[in-house]
Amino acid sequence: MKDKHHHHVDYDAEFINPSKDVVKQALIKDYDKIYKRSVEDREGFWAEEAKKLTWFKKWDKVLDDSKKPFYKWFTGGKFNIIANAIDRHLKNWRRNKLAIIWEGEPGDVKTMSYHALNREVSKFANVLKSMGVHKGEVVTIYMPQIPELPIAMLACAKIGAIHSVIYGGFSAEALAGRIEDAKSRTLITADGGFRRGNITDLKGIANEAMRRSATIEVCIVVKRTAQDVHMQGDRDFWYHDLMALPIANPKCETEVMDAEDPLFILYTSGTTGKPKGLMHSHGGYAVYTSTTHKYVFDIKDEDRWWCAADPGWITGHSYLVYSPLINGATLMMYEGAPNHPYPNRWWSMVEKYGITILYTSPTAIRGLMRFGESWPNRHDLTSLRLLGSVGEPINPEAWKWYHRVIGGGKCPIMDTWWQTETGGFVITPLPITALKPGSATKPFFGHEVAIVDEQGNQVADGEEGKLVLQAPWPGMARSIWGDPDRFKETYWKDYEKQGWYKAGDAARKDKDGYFWIIGRIDDVIKVSGYRLGTAEIESALITHYAVSESAVVGLPHEIKGNAIHCYVILRAGMTGNKALEEELKEHVSRELGPIAKPEHIEFVDSLPKTRSGKIMRRVLKARALGQDVGDISTLEE
Ligand code: WT7
Repeated sequence: MKDKHHHHVDYDAEFINPSKDVVKQALIKDYDKIYKRSVEDREGFWAEEAKKLTWFKKWDKVLDDSKKPFYKWFTGGKFNIIANAIDRHLKNWRRNKLAIIWEGEPGDVKTMSYHALNREVSKFANVLKSMGVHKGEVVTIYMPQIPELPIAMLACAKIGAIHSVIYGGFSAEALAGRIEDAKSRTLITADGGFRRGNITDLKGIANEAMRRSATIEVCIVVKRTAQDVHMQGDRDFWYHDLMALPIANPKCETEVMDAEDPLFILYTSGTTGKPKGLMHSHGGYAVYTSTTHKYVFDIKDEDRWWCAADPGWITGHSYLVYSPLINGATLMMYEGAPNHPYPNRWWSMVEKYGITILYTSPTAIRGLMRFGESWPNRHDLTSLRLLGSVGEPINPEAWKWYHRVIGGGKCPIMDTWWQTETGGFVITPLPITALKPGSATKPFFGHEVAIVDEQGNQVADGEEGKLVLQAPWPGMARSIWGDPDRFKETYWKDYEKQGWYKAGDAARKDKDGYFWIIGRIDDVIKVSGYRLGTAEIESALITHYAVSESAVVGLPHEIKGNAIHCYVILRAGMTGNKALEEELKEHVSRELGPIAKPEHIEFVDSLPKTRSGKIMRRVLKARALGQDVGDISTLEE
């Protein structure tokens, strides 16, 4: 397949070598040597990293692969991620180090030392306990990007409850479905948040979700905007009221967990309609995220780390909240839009707080790039020493702009490929890596990655194929909540014989062994780096009275990477016009959330289907792009 929108990619690009300065301070100086060791003695490598963390009791076994693909790591070990993300820092000088610098969209600022973070987390942990939350139950969190969001996550982890964070941009329908799936009893939310100068109606949406799914008994609400909201007397409580009660005792023991006990579930889109709750564990996840974060971003005590992702996604879980805290870093968190009130908002914060590492997405870079260089150029960005990218392939134009304009030509860009399922980085450069713009470069330690065909044969260098991970790693998702069969089926069935994990991405490997990600091969679309299933959008469309059938595809978009295009067959008697088009866009946005709002709706009389009735989205896509539609021998009409 000639992938038209990747024609800018230059596989033979000249290497961009790191400067002497970068190499001098790098924690890892010899990738090849450590990589070799890490795959020859994988368990030894990970055990050595695990030893750097605090364990209540050391593990008996590093890797238990007796129930593949349900791998277990550090079995027999007693652990809690909070003992590492908070407790251990209280015993040394880091107690008084800044853990969190937070800025709200209106410009309000809060900072918290590790000491203060521990106090807030412990108090809230005691509040949760007094509200009847116990070890092993799922607590749903639906919040804007305010400090109470990580505090809520950490408080759950501290007492052994499993958090399920639902991105604050999701709709009532999406929230209700996820609450229902997890049978969650407790919801933590806020009255609203600030976004692009507007106030979001989080509590209104939460109320609607609680009407739709009856499992919530306790709802704790943070007052952020002070707008009027409806509180139900016997169910809803203000966070600040509870935190002012004697039950909010600032002393709370961290629960002793098994290394394999679940830490959180996080819902993500897949091929079929229902989002899946991926489960991550306390022990392996902590080891994996902290190790990848430390080596890839060369984390030092002087750093001010800014991961600009929302905690509602895996990037926020792994690299905004958990790994920076485990590594004792100072993290930056910002509530609002990158261009509010002006396109220099981010750059002014980099300057104001002296940010040393910025980790964001290609879509954000492209979005800010379009306002021109004069916005960043008004700010002193020389505190930056490393940059990062995640979420989708970064096109070389955006890469070069990021490198030159934001990084002043001296900050290497860590283009990290990974997924909700992998828990942390899998293919990624290190600061010392010679870079090629647009390539995520090479596997992280302990990983064996290949590009294969349907049968599992390696394809030739430069050829497109399927990306597989050939060996287990500590941060891998343990299962899908309530549906282990789906876990097996989705990721492990295609290469069952070999025991490989199928990532769902197409990729190439060049002659230098560098990986180039092309994109998803399943029915998942990445829109502005957000992951959406075509089936979810189709299900939302069908709930509209005018729609009889639909098919959704992702087509290239200059800023979003991909945009949602819908083909709709209307019910008999309905006519497609501009007004209905707008109505359907609004409908999807209301059903799923604004991130799923379609770019384009096209009314059609029929859809290309296989004889067994499966919609051939690939045909629709190829046709829209003016490409060869490929093998259509199974096409019915
Ligand atoms: C999918 C996973 C990993 C955190 C955010 C996304 C795409 C992710 C890259 C990258 C090219 C990338 C893949 C992957 N992706 N990072 N650096 N280069 N593609 O997590 O929502 O689970 O999505 O994002 O297609 O399969 P996610």
